[in-house]
Amino acid sequence: MCGIVGYIGHREAYPIILKGLKRLEYRGYDSAGIALYDGADIKLSKTKGKVLDLEARLEKEISTKGTLGIGHTRWATHGVPNDVNSHPHYSNSGDLVIIHNGIIENYESLKKELIKRGYTFKSDTDTEVLINLIEDVKKNENTKLGKAVQIALNQVIGAYAIAVFDKNKPNEIVVARLGSPLAIGIGEDEFFIASDASPFIEYTKNAIYLEDEEMAIIRRDKGVKIRKIKDDSLVAPYIQELQLNLEQIEKGGYEHFMLKEIYEQPSAILDTFRGRLLINEAIIKMAGVEDNMKRFLNADRIIIVACGTSWHAGLVAEYIFEDLARIPVEVEYASEFRYRNPIITENDVVIAISQSGETADTLAAIKLAKSKGAFVFGVCNVVGSSIARETHAGAYTHAGPEIGVASTKAFTTQITVLTLIALRLARAKGTISSSDYRHNLIELELIPDKVKKALESDEYVKTIAAIYKDVHNFLYLGRGYNFPVALEGALKLKEISYIHAEGYPAAEMKHGPIALIDENMPIVVIATKKGHYEKVVSNIQEIKSRKGKIIGIVTEGDIQVKELADHVIEVPETIESLSPLLTTIPLQLLSYHIALMLGKNVDQPRNLAKAVTVE
Ligand code: AGP
Ligand code: GLU
Repeated sequence: MCGIVGYIGHREAYPIILKGLKRLEYRGYDSAGIALYDGADIKLSKTKGKVLDLEARLEKEISTKGTLGIGHTRWATHGVPNDVNSHPHYSNSGDLVIIHNGIIENYESLKKELIKRGYTFKSDTDTEVLINLIEDVKKNENTKLGKAVQIALNQVIGAYAIAVFDKNKPNEIVVARLGSPLAIGIGEDEFFIASDASPFIEYTKNAIYLEDEEMAIIRRDKGVKIRKIKDDSLVAPYIQELQLNLEQIEKGGYEHFMLKEIYEQPSAILDTFRGRLLINEAIIKMAGVEDNMKRFLNADRIIIVACGTSWHAGLVAEYIFEDLARIPVEVEYASEFRYRNPIITENDVVIAISQSGETADTLAAIKLAKSKGAFVFGVCNVVGSSIARETHAGAYTHAGPEIGVASTKAFTTQITVLTLIALRLARAKGTISSSDYRHNLIELELIPDKVKKALESDEYVKTIAAIYKDVHNFLYLGRGYNFPVALEGALKLKEISYIHAEGYPAAEMKHGPIALIDENMPIVVIATKKGHYEKVVSNIQEIKSRKGKIIGIVTEGDIQVKELADHVIEVPETIESLSPLLTTIPLQLLSYHIALMLGKNVDQPRNLAKAVTVE
């Protein structure tokens, strides 16, 4: 995520950009910076920390004069959060500056080539590579900034929303987007650019939303010219008059951050495997794993430590690692692991999973494991977080900031990262055939679109929520890969609707929970085609004979469960190991709608915190 803001016009740029960055704070950030053209040169100030820290520092460091400027709040993907890695970034000559939201996947190869041509780099970011690529093209092709940006972006693989300007041409800003949002505000002889309209909505309601693979050259005197990045062809601008208010913009038009984040899962999963799942070469590339391959391959076992939803992702990973890579896995509640004097040796690999990267119990479990000589690998969503810094190596989920306390996109992106690791290890160990490996990669690449398809059940799920919103108990059942999804679905319902819910392995029902079942008990049963389907169908029959109300989560086209259940919600077919990425979607929506109908505070449920940084 992160936020970009820019201004070119007749007013002082600084106050507009600074306020705009504060408006984008909800998009999450770990550092911030602003570059201004003061009429003669570029003045730039940037810092790790909050926009307030930037404000305090900048006003001491540079003049805030100038009617052209760009600003950025960073959500780091490449290069830890620090001053040097903050944006904006200069090109080597100091003539160009850039801000960027997104990930340049092929930055390493581009950087190697630029170093050969004599470029030097101050930061570890992919963004600094992009601005020097643009400078290199501009010099070699002897072309204007706009053309140089267009040529350079055709060499780039990845996602971006960028804004660039040249101090020698201070009457224009060049912007471009692919995969990350970019809006242009059209004022009276002034123009704004931003990740969304919140920074400029108070100045103008007239906006152009760039489409993917479009760029724009915005000139003070000539207005906005939009072109296709691929072939430089002109695009007629579509100016719309915005009706959204500030709060609606921050939530992307959704009523709550939780719903926005449920709907962000297709892009969050895509961003998480972007640059790591190279489908054409049929390879998985994850530096943290490659650099420690021996540790993984020689491990006696993998111990997963986590809490809450992250612990559920760990349970899914247990099935994946043992099924595909044949490595023994134990999944531990971090809070139990840290106190039970566990047996840990230097032949153990510990994987710590945490969205926030700040969960106290997980951090303590990591320190215990390290003290006993284990190799600890982190799966976090926040670059530079305590857990990311405490672990020996790691792989980030690229879910973007998760604001809603109830974890949704963190869960699916954690499973995505863990699946990539398990497949990579299975390949290295030879426990998976090349055809199965390739099949898994192809299926994983299809997941973002299949999640989009699963989200289409939203309206129907809402009708089910209306029927069961007043019950006092729910049971969630699943088998195999979908047993952890049953636990996760129950947790989602509990934590935002305050209805008691329990998740169970479907076969366990006969060992007690079946006594709970009567006509007042709704039971969600995950019954995907490839997951011990017949066994689950017989569990459903046992429930039906006791008058339980059955909500089946089934593979699209299912007939058998449809005849038995009171309601069925379909998800697209996929391989069983990836089914949790789809079956969790209707359960997230069900808990969201029930909580909303009960008037609960969906984004900030009572008693809960987004990161449990205390014991
Ligand atoms: C899940 O919806 C909750 N927010 C909670 O269980 C959470 O998953 C748990 O506190 C772990 O947080 P972490 O992933 O940031 O470590
Ligand atoms: N990939 C860039 C970086 O890590 C931009 C990240 C962002 O979107 O804030 O600096």
